[in-house]
Amino acid sequence: MLHKLSKTFRLCCTLVAATCLFCLSATECMAQKPGTFEAGKGPFLLNGKPFVVKAAELHYPRIPRPYWEHRIQMCKALGMNTVCLYVFWNFHEQKEGQYDFTGNADVAEFCRLVQKNGMYVIVRPGPYVCAEWEMGGLPWWLLKKKDIRLRESDPYFMERVRLFEREVGKQLAPLTIQNGGPIIMVQVENEYGSYGKDKKYVSEIRDIIRESGFDKVALFQCDWNSNFEQNALDDLTWTMNFGTGANIDQQFRRLGELRPDAPKMCSEFWSGWFDKWGARHETRPAKDMVDGMDEMLSKGISFSLYMTHGGTSFGHWAGANSPGFAPDVTSYDYDAPINEYGHATPKYHELRKMMQKYSDKKLPAIPKAPMPIITVPKFELKEYAPLMYANKGLCTDGSHEDLTFEAHNLGWGFATYYNTLPEVPSEGILTLNGVHDYAQVWINGKYIGKIDRVKNEKNLTIPPTKAGAKIIILLEAMGRINFGRAIKDFKGITGKVTIKANAKGHDLTYTLNNWEQYYVDDRYETALQALKKASSTEKNEYTTYFKEDARIMEGRGYYRGYFNLKKVGDTFLNFETWGKGQVWVNGHAMGRIWSIGPQQTLYVPGCWLKKGENEIIVLDIAGPKETVVWGQDVPELNKLQIEMPPTHRKKGETLDLSQEKPVMTGTLESGNGLKFVKFDKPVTGRYFCIEALNSHWNREYCCIAEIYLRDADGKSIPRDSWTVSYADDEDVVTGNKNGTKAFDQQESTYWSTNKGVPFPHHLVIDLQKEQTITGFHLIPRMEEGAPEAIKDFRIFVKSSPFKM
Ligand code: GLA
Repeated sequence: MLHKLSKTFRLCCTLVAATCLFCLSATECMAQKPGTFEAGKGPFLLNGKPFVVKAAELHYPRIPRPYWEHRIQMCKALGMNTVCLYVFWNFHEQKEGQYDFTGNADVAEFCRLVQKNGMYVIVRPGPYVCAEWEMGGLPWWLLKKKDIRLRESDPYFMERVRLFEREVGKQLAPLTIQNGGPIIMVQVENEYGSYGKDKKYVSEIRDIIRESGFDKVALFQCDWNSNFEQNALDDLTWTMNFGTGANIDQQFRRLGELRPDAPKMCSEFWSGWFDKWGARHETRPAKDMVDGMDEMLSKGISFSLYMTHGGTSFGHWAGANSPGFAPDVTSYDYDAPINEYGHATPKYHELRKMMQKYSDKKLPAIPKAPMPIITVPKFELKEYAPLMYANKGLCTDGSHEDLTFEAHNLGWGFATYYNTLPEVPSEGILTLNGVHDYAQVWINGKYIGKIDRVKNEKNLTIPPTKAGAKIIILLEAMGRINFGRAIKDFKGITGKVTIKANAKGHDLTYTLNNWEQYYVDDRYETALQALKKASSTEKNEYTTYFKEDARIMEGRGYYRGYFNLKKVGDTFLNFETWGKGQVWVNGHAMGRIWSIGPQQTLYVPGCWLKKGENEIIVLDIAGPKETVVWGQDVPELNKLQIEMPPTHRKKGETLDLSQEKPVMTGTLESGNGLKFVKFDKPVTGRYFCIEALNSHWNREYCCIAEIYLRDADGKSIPRDSWTVSYADDEDVVTGNKNGTKAFDQQESTYWSTNKGVPFPHHLVIDLQKEQTITGFHLIPRMEEGAPEAIKDFRIFVKSSPFKM
């Protein structure tokens, strides 16, 4: 049987573990006998015997290294036999050509720890990983080559991938099962089907992985059941990704048709979901997760539970989602069975009970957390340095017209842009095209307002000004987009800055050129330098030159304080009185904060604290209400400090279709999976409206998981720039189910109306430009918990906005 590893193997593990207790690091206590792992006829085969993979997804950069082994043991106590991990390229090669596999980046040591604990490893070395991680794991410096084609056979991209994977091979190839290590499988690329259709590129990545030393170990590809055929390579194992509540048989139906003998594996079974700034904390019912896994195990289906423990996207590593720009919060709790700080949740206990059924041995005891939880009384951060004191000096190393970070060799941080205005005779509109990601504007010392990419903002109204008025823009870059085509996410101001005004009946447009630009990186050392300059009693260039600007941008800067500890432990520092920025504790980059929530506390691991004095620095670019912090014993991950998450129906608005003629009236079939609808003849327009007249199960909701439109050639129209111009109703109370979820490229999130709001329901999508549409395909809600499928519908397409 699968879980019955040979006695010798078990004995060997015990001996190895025992030795390790005394002196050796996991590094030295390795070396098992070489083995094999392969896809058999039906199941996977481990050393020739059937094996069901029960994998726990863990991300080593999201767990402080001193806690690695505890988290691995927590997975073991859950009944898992494998750990699945991504290798995060940009974490290892932060500067081009400089590889780091030490400290928290020592992925080989992480794998050895897994082996030491008698488990196997699945490695997913990208190059792209998604994972709600900055740029999906790709290094920002790739963007210095402006025309680079990411995740395609671009020669420079492929060359850098080859070099990186070679380094990964040096670290991990000796650890494959064939070499006596724990690695049983290696993934090629990641869900390429949700990016494109390019078998040539995917084959090249497969070859690179093989050449890097993974030539004997089993290779696989993961995708969604709706798109895996697009890039499926004949010589790789195919696995499916889907979330809790999904219909398991349906998910494997197509695979079963194509490869009836192949092992079945859900390579990402989503236990929960990730959180975004400005939207509610995501949760998924424990029961759906446990039932799904129970069903899979009862059918001998392998899985990896994504995430079993999510951890934290420390520092600037949290990514952002698209379409639109939806930056992820710092916590990657994921509503996973093991919470952000490594404790067992009720979900964990339910899951463990179920997993016990599939183990012939009693599961190991749940290990004790390495540190207690402590609180810290409220304290004040009294020291302050304006952000400007940290700038690297005037940027002259790039073109003056290029306002992106990458053109100035900066990956992460902040910028200030200075210019003088022409005469603006009347009230005007200032347009900042492509603010990536959050800009604040001052004119002649007066605060004008902010432009927030999350809200798709671009314009500010400015007062009439005389020629020569001074404009200052302070900009913060957040994490780069990690999903879809938008991963090519330059930071800074990526387009033109213009002013439109009216002079005696004539419209004037000015483009502002020749900016003076300053950049500030987000390193701890930079914060220290600024604080040092501010505390210096001597006059220096900063205190004199930037004095006026520091006054104008009052409150935007670094704050330092200290707290004393008698006893060290994990804690949750609360920042709800602060604006927006980043935090360092004892030099460790803890992550981003933003008053809008839902996350209001940052997890501070005790292993990075010490007895006595601890230092905290907060960089706030919006300005705090109160400069106080305290440590509490529970996290706050669900406190939005905005009135309501955004919806798409303005007060008093009701869509009026009385004068409109539908381009189609029809009925969608019941059940899961893609539904195809073809129009009688092509139609053109920019605004697409679906009117749902009723539903199949009368469950008092209207839901769409994904909707795609087809162009004249029958291909899907790119959805990256789509916006919702109207949704009659959106449930933002029980979850984040607004209209954008119908085209967010994630099948497991969906648009839903609130329970009990009567049909008909309407969703109007702005395609941003005129398109020829020949039909659509739609995925109803696929999960079992709160599903609903539209039955009768009407479609309207127009070139101008619909009447309200
Ligand atoms: C996909 C990706 C993962 C992660 C999840 C959502 O499955 O492969 O990296 O982004 O979505 O959490």
